Amino acid sequence: MNVGIDLIHFSTSDYYLGLDAFAEEKNIDVDKFYIGIGQEKMSIAPPDEDVVSLAAKAAAPILEQIDKNSITAILFATESGVDQSKSAGVFLHGLLNLSSRCRVIEFKHACYSGAAALQMATTMVRANPKEKVLVIAADIAKYDVDTSGEATQGCGAVAMLVTESPRIIAIEPGSGYHTEDVMDFWRPNQRKTALVDGKYSTKVYLHSLKQAWQHFTEETGRTFDDIQHFCYHIPFTKMADKAHQTLAKVAKVKLSPQEFKAQTLPSQVYNRIVGNSYSASLFVGFCSLLDNLNENMANRRVSFFSYGSGCVAEFFTGLMQPGYEKVLMSTSHRKQIEQRHPLTYAEYLAFYHEVDDEVENIEFERHNKGPYRLAGIKDHKRYYQTL
Ligand code: HMG
Repeated sequence: MNVGIDLIHFSTSDYYLGLDAFAEEKNIDVDKFYIGIGQEKMSIAPPDEDVVSLAAKAAAPILEQIDKNSITAILFATESGVDQSKSAGVFLHGLLNLSSRCRVIEFKHACYSGAAALQMATTMVRANPKEKVLVIAADIAKYDVDTSGEATQGCGAVAMLVTESPRIIAIEPGSGYHTEDVMDFWRPNQRKTALVDGKYSTKVYLHSLKQAWQHFTEETGRTFDDIQHFCYHIPFTKMADKAHQTLAKVAKVKLSPQEFKAQTLPSQVYNRIVGNSYSASLFVGFCSLLDNLNENMANRRVSFFSYGSGCVAEFFTGLMQPGYEKVLMSTSHRKQIEQRHPLTYAEYLAFYHEVDDEVENIEFERHNKGPYRLAGIKDHKRYYQTL
């Protein structure tokens, strides 16, 4: 039985900060960002946008195409959760008015949780083909101002419907994984921003890739040449380039500059202008590949490398399904990105400091253009609005 992603759609916020404005403010050569880390823009969430409103924006176009009462579970992956007890998925469930005959749970392990939720969903469907699981990966990447991580912020959500006989990609059984207790990036409970040992984190990322790849080859017997397209977790696009160089080296494959570009560039177009979206970032990269490769990918194999600091990593693959191009929502993706409004550095800072969900009561000024927004907090309870 084939099981995998039947529909996929991603969302991002209505605002961005250009790294040109950022570089000017910090008096840094902009090429450090454009070339050095391979980033141009960061999507910035206004105070009335959180992972629930981003997730609703990502999921709604999928639900419009199916009987939404057929969703049997929501697996919500995030490290920017809105409550320590109640899952973000239950807020989403209410906002989208889904059937009560549905299970909902939140997944967490840094950027890895999106891949974990997808793998869990495929296991659920293999066990019971009647299951239709809505997987959400949604995050707002936030670091302290004036730290090395500040230029690598961003936000986004990806919704994926996981079913049997999927129309887009069948996820193949067999994967390679790697876990190691390290402190490369973390966010203690009392903090709103992540702490990071930046350079160390890039080393652990590459080490985990080598370990997960080794395990993957032992488990599946597949080689580099069995894979036509490569998707990586993309905290910034240069990291994915380094990952692909490392993988080719470990697999003893020599790539011409043209081959290297063809295997990496299409999956990086969106991430370069959206920024890091933690758990969603790997799947934003997959959407970017689907929308920006001008070739038909039917029957080709795509690999996914998920890395979550701390750290857990997994390498797995899927097979593109014939006719997949008919169900893509590329126009919506492009429109959202193009319609974002640029922020000055001062406007970005105002958004950055205004978010304070520790307050008991607040009504947020309307910045989020919808269709879903966080309207306020009353008696410590978040309430949302459909516009
Ligand atoms: P930094 O100190 O700002 O930058 O840190 P740098 O001085 O290392 O420069 C970066 C690159 O730009 C270097 O190239 C420079 O040579 C180059 P490299 O040596 O890396 O190839 N450069 C220039 N190039 C052209 N023109 C110039 C110029 N100047 C410099 N004028 C760092 C960079 C990535 C460490 C920082 O941005 C950071 O801390 N980011 C956050 C952490 C991160 O993203 N880590 C990635 C791996 S961990 C991960 O992916 C998990 C994560 O998503 C979280 C999760 O799992 O939840 C983060």
